[in-house]
Amino acid sequence: MIHNPGISKVLFGGDYNPEQWDKEIWKEDMRLFSLASINTVTINVFSWALIQKSEDEYDFSMLDEIVKTVTDHGLHICFATSTAAHPAWMARKHPDILRVNIDGVKRKFGGRHNSCPNSPAYRKYSVLLSEKIAERYGHNKKIAAWHVSNEYGEMCYCDNCEKEFRVWLQKRYKTIEALNTAWNTSFWGHTYYDWEDIVSPSHISEQWPHNKTSCQTQSIDYKRFMSDSLLECFKLEAQALKKITPYIPVTTNLMGTYRDLDYHKWGKEMDFISWDSYPSPGQSYTRTSMSHAVMRGCKPGKPFALMEQTPSVTNWQPYNSLKRPGIMRLWSYQALAHGSDTVLFFQMRRSIGCCEKYHGAVIDHCGHEHTRVFRETALLGKELEKAGGSFLGSINKARTAILYDWDNLWATGFSAGPSVDLDYTEEVYKYYDALARLNIGADIISCDENLDKYDVVIAPVLYMVKDGLAEKLEEFTKRGGTFITGFFSGYVDERDLVVSGGYPGKLRKLCGLWVEEIDALLPGQENAFVIRSGPLSGVYPAVMLCDIIHPETAQTVAVYEKDFYAETPSVCCNTFGKGKAWYIGASTPKNNSVFLEKILLLITSEHGITSVLPPQEGLEAVVRSKNGKDYIFVLNHNAKSVFITIPGSCKNLLTGVCYAGEQITEVEQNGVMILEAVEGAF
Ligand code: GLA
Ligand code: ZN
Repeated sequence: MIHNPGISKVLFGGDYNPEQWDKEIWKEDMRLFSLASINTVTINVFSWALIQKSEDEYDFSMLDEIVKTVTDHGLHICFATSTAAHPAWMARKHPDILRVNIDGVKRKFGGRHNSCPNSPAYRKYSVLLSEKIAERYGHNKKIAAWHVSNEYGEMCYCDNCEKEFRVWLQKRYKTIEALNTAWNTSFWGHTYYDWEDIVSPSHISEQWPHNKTSCQTQSIDYKRFMSDSLLECFKLEAQALKKITPYIPVTTNLMGTYRDLDYHKWGKEMDFISWDSYPSPGQSYTRTSMSHAVMRGCKPGKPFALMEQTPSVTNWQPYNSLKRPGIMRLWSYQALAHGSDTVLFFQMRRSIGCCEKYHGAVIDHCGHEHTRVFRETALLGKELEKAGGSFLGSINKARTAILYDWDNLWATGFSAGPSVDLDYTEEVYKYYDALARLNIGADIISCDENLDKYDVVIAPVLYMVKDGLAEKLEEFTKRGGTFITGFFSGYVDERDLVVSGGYPGKLRKLCGLWVEEIDALLPGQENAFVIRSGPLSGVYPAVMLCDIIHPETAQTVAVYEKDFYAETPSVCCNTFGKGKAWYIGASTPKNNSVFLEKILLLITSEHGITSVLPPQEGLEAVVRSKNGKDYIFVLNHNAKSVFITIPGSCKNLLTGVCYAGEQITEVEQNGVMILEAVEGAF
């Protein structure tokens, strides 16, 4: 898709389910697609039951007609393999395909994303279907990508999974003794004598309600195993497709900061990342932007595809507010700003039955084009055609990176103590939000990523420090980088075993301090960071968790305001080689980024990192670059117009207007500009 050299425009369109409609309607769809400049459809997402009627009876006749209709109409195809919902006959004949949930209950047929990832029947039939699809349609030049399954996820606790879990564990630990050590099984008399003793951690074994567990390492390993199991399903289909059509890129649609899958591992197996963005009503634009950055970070240095967004409304949130006029356009450009090369919707035509009949679509139940949503879609389609694809393939530049890690997400989530309020993703977001408000570009990367291109690396709640990471962070800091971490960091290794000898464990030397205790504040309770002099001076709220810190080589920057640890350090900074390591000892309140903004502004300016545009409330400015040329995306998330100063000679690709630079220009409410630099970088 986005790597297909034949395509030099933003792919615009989305999920199209003609199998739900009479063929007369298909003709009308084609007319409406032309009106809205739709150039791409994602087809065959949930058609397994239509195609495979029994063990060996495949019927592609309707799919043939669909493919012919959309191809004749000149549409690009994002071709799904249909394996996200198995047919009813398959569940009847091969009950191993049905999942067992965390309560140990075997599911019956129903729903979707419902197959056990370790079911031999599922693997056999899904791969076979992919092969047949690739053989039958792989020659079609309009296929932009294979879209395997759909939104992989959900866990299974069936006997097959349990068996495979044992195999997975044997590969990881080699001996039962090593497993006993890793899982610390001498606690509560859990010692395992034989691999056969091991069961999956469900509600009828180790797992407690509310996502806690008696053996955290076991539960983390089960997450890792499930993510790998589902990934194996993806890989098997992808291999089958690639064997027949090595020239068609393969993807599957991810879900941002979705908990259950280690998307960094997934990204390595995908030709490009695609993902489905459904911000909840009222969600801050910076949180959406963080999800884009997380997704981009799963395949660094490559653009991604916005595979789904709603043109208007979802049906599955508690309150399904309409996207206000102009918001769908704004959020589409926001995805492009952060590295997407596509604007795709779920869905093209609103279905008339079942749970998504009130989900928004480009074509509504009224069936015609005279709707607000259709008009907005058509206008955006025209505008994208006019803007052209010069920025496609460009990448987001950032000298600041934030580490985000699924093992840490799981380990902090399962941790019994210190506070139920701790939400790893939310802590990462606090830093991302502060940088985004400053219009300072940030990548969100895995712990495995090379840090050479970054000057500032932030690792909020780096609770689990995996092998080699502390050394890498030390190297990074020694050569002049600034490392930032803080409370509840460095506690455990990748087996979730505490590194004894003092927190923050392997980060202690780098941070130059020892943390003796951590205090959990009650909801509504606050302490404060007090800074009495210098550029950061002030009193800033500290919440949730407070580390009690003893500096060793670090300097104290801030102290606590109250409690028995009043006047002890709350923020420290340690000089390490040519660089510095900052330690922020407590959390900061949601919706109050003042303190983090101040610290980050100070640190980034020490490295000569500047804002893309000067910060203004609700004004987002993001750069993508290609061949030395910069594109600044200006997005006004305010319900009023704002004024910006154009940063240099450039052309607004959306209007064709050229600017000499330094001009003050109005950006209307929810307005967007794509400023292409006339000469190279701004
Ligand atoms: C997901 C799925 C789609 C559809 C939308 C509705 O993203 O992939 O099939 O259910 O949600 O928002
Ligand atoms: Zn299973």
